[in-house]
Amino acid sequence: MATVLAIETSCDETAVAIVKNREVISSIITSQIATHRQYGGVVPEVASRLHVESINPAIAQAFAEAGLNWTEIDGIAATCAPGLVGSLMVGVTTAKTLAILHQKPFIGIHHLEGHIYASYLSDTSLQPPFLCLLVSGGHTSLIHVKDCGVYETLGQTRDDAAGEAFDKVARLLGLAYPGGPVIDNLAKLGNPATYPLPEGNISLPAGGYHPYDSSFSGLKTAVLRLVKKLQSEGGEMPVNDIAASFQQTVAKSLTRRAIKCALDCQLKTIAVGGGVAANSGLRQHLQQAAEQNNLKVIFPPMKFCTDNAAMIGCAAAEHLNRGHTSPLTLGVQSRLSLSHLMQLYSKTA
Ligand code: KG4
Ligand code: ZN
Repeated sequence: MATVLAIETSCDETAVAIVKNREVISSIITSQIATHRQYGGVVPEVASRLHVESINPAIAQAFAEAGLNWTEIDGIAATCAPGLVGSLMVGVTTAKTLAILHQKPFIGIHHLEGHIYASYLSDTSLQPPFLCLLVSGGHTSLIHVKDCGVYETLGQTRDDAAGEAFDKVARLLGLAYPGGPVIDNLAKLGNPATYPLPEGNISLPAGGYHPYDSSFSGLKTAVLRLVKKLQSEGGEMPVNDIAASFQQTVAKSLTRRAIKCALDCQLKTIAVGGGVAANSGLRQHLQQAAEQNNLKVIFPPMKFCTDNAAMIGCAAAEHLNRGHTSPLTLGVQSRLSLSHLMQLYSKTA
């Protein structure tokens, strides 16, 4: 039963949590979004500086809310890959320093493994094998979760990630960053059948389509063309209908692939992770399709869909329980495939 202090600073949230196995004792998320919004996206150097300012107060707050002290902590974890290198460095350096100071093990965590573990926070009895539909700002993948640390990616996007598509479409509609939650809200007011849009199928050389891979750049271009056409026609831009049509197309595309993949692999459970797991259209579509196919779907609690440290702590607690710890020489990496994740650990039980 490991209790872990976890730090997540891979992008624009400074997050700290204390997690006991799959139970969140405290979770602090300091968002930098208001600062980055004025630039229309995340500015890496600004992100690193803000992490430096926020990290110590966030740790103090996590301890205060948990009512715990250092003697009750078994290990200190931080996201070490993938992400913005300067931002990751802040979290990893903080975690390693605290590990030396308090003589606790250090556990480096892969950010995407954290998103996979977010579903364990809503269903503490979840056990592999299951399929994870991971849909974030940087990734769109179908992952066969075989065991802790053992993942096989069966499908992915060939270009833009689902969250990236939401952000880009929001930008071309003149909406604020990050676009996902804004489009989600506007879509509730629009008619999704107004504009038929392409789902982004990947043709195979032998004919037909790749069953699990996706593409969202064509969809984004189709929305751009539609907006230009409507602009040239004059009148008010039907932003709600465009948002609803776009969101439904993404939800359908992700749902179709996830259901087929789960059925083909005989996996009875689909766990969703990443910021787009918060999307109401995806939640509704996938839930409905899963019920029709006798599959179970698990979404993380809303506050743990987007970046947070509770999911990192949950993954770290399981690694620590298995005797996996990282060397203090472990560096950060902007990219690291999930299949290379076990190289983060020096000891295995
Ligand atoms: O997982 P996350 O916080 O960061 C990454 O690891 O990338 O995901 C952020 C992404 C952004 O692209 C954001 O627009 C999207 O998740 N997102 C949403 C919603 N909430 C966040 N997309 C669609 N609907 C939402 N409700
Ligand atoms: Zn993320």
